[in-house]
Amino acid sequence: MRIVLAPMEGLADAHLRRLITAQGGYDWVVSEFVRVVDRLYPDRVLYGDCPELAQGGRTDSGTPLRVQLLGSDPAAMAANALRVVELGSYGVDINFGCPSKTVNRRAGGAVMLKEPESLYRVVSAIRAALPKSVMVSAKMRLGFDDTSLMLDNAAAIESAGAGELTVHARTRMQGYAPPAHWEELGRIRQHINIPLIANGDICSVEDYHRCVAISGTPDVMLGRGAVRLPFLASQIRANQTQTTPWVQLAPLLVHFWQELSTTLSSKDRVGRIKQWVNYLRQAHPEAEVLWHSIRLEKCTQTIDGLLPRLESVAQGSCATAKQL
Ligand SMILES: Cc1cc2nc3c(=O)[nH]c(=O)nc-3n(C[C@H](O)[C@H](O)[C@H](O)COP(=O)(O)O)c2cc1C
Repeated sequence: MRIVLAPMEGLADAHLRRLITAQGGYDWVVSEFVRVVDRLYPDRVLYGDCPELAQGGRTDSGTPLRVQLLGSDPAAMAANALRVVELGSYGVDINFGCPSKTVNRRAGGAVMLKEPESLYRVVSAIRAALPKSVMVSAKMRLGFDDTSLMLDNAAAIESAGAGELTVHARTRMQGYAPPAHWEELGRIRQHINIPLIANGDICSVEDYHRCVAISGTPDVMLGRGAVRLPFLASQIRANQTQTTPWVQLAPLLVHFWQELSTTLSSKDRVGRIKQWVNYLRQAHPEAEVLWHSIRLEKCTQTIDGLLPRLESVAQGSCATAKQL
């Protein structure tokens, strides 16, 4: 069983990657995508996007970081792939799943699933640029409009030399709408000889077991479920189905808030804490209470003032939005 923390642009930044991987259970984490157009980025841009590169390519807890690149220019993708590996990335992942219209208009992300040869060109250029010992992986969706090219795309990625394939079990048209189609992953797995990593809607230990049974692969990538439940990977490993008590989560939230002050403006910091609480409230009633106190808040001092009370909610001494 291998468990990977998903790339999530604008959500799983270096702060959240550090915090979630510190709870254990992850074999590696994939960075937010680095969008490659037609040139090699200077190192300062790569270090800015992936600060883990400055500490041996690992998060503070030692989880390896694999940089994800997005783009369709084989030469530029290969040049950046080589550089991130020289800087310490644990292999390179290639994004063939991004649904953004802006990205797709420029021939990057999921739109490439319309043309298996374009996947082949990018993967093989990167493979040729890197030492054999370095992992090249790709992440795709089931297709763009439909699944008609799903097996061809997976085969193109494998034959170009990728060593692992992660599949988000939806087409680009399906966006993020449930359900994820884990049964399609079983078809892909039977069609290729490289390991398949299942992704999409694995949000609990029960989901993990159902996904493994349906897809036939023990390897998974956790995205939004890991943001809602930061202990999810270690719970899957321990086969422990109870939700983590809020008393364990509240200190993480306090820590996150404090850490954000090291890199973000006040406005962005407030936005980020709200974003995480919005995810947490989908799994924790205490976060729902907190959400109602902060959702309209703009001021960092007010949130600073809430934090000691947040700890008391964790200890069970107050439980209503009014008390917060
Ligand atoms: C906010 C957000 C940002 C994302 N950014 C990326 C990205 O940078 N690269 C990528 O390959 N996938 C990205 N994804 C897709 C996720 O990695 C994952 O495939 C998807 O969320 C389904 O998995 P989940 O149901 O476990 O979240 C993003 C998803 C979300 C919600």
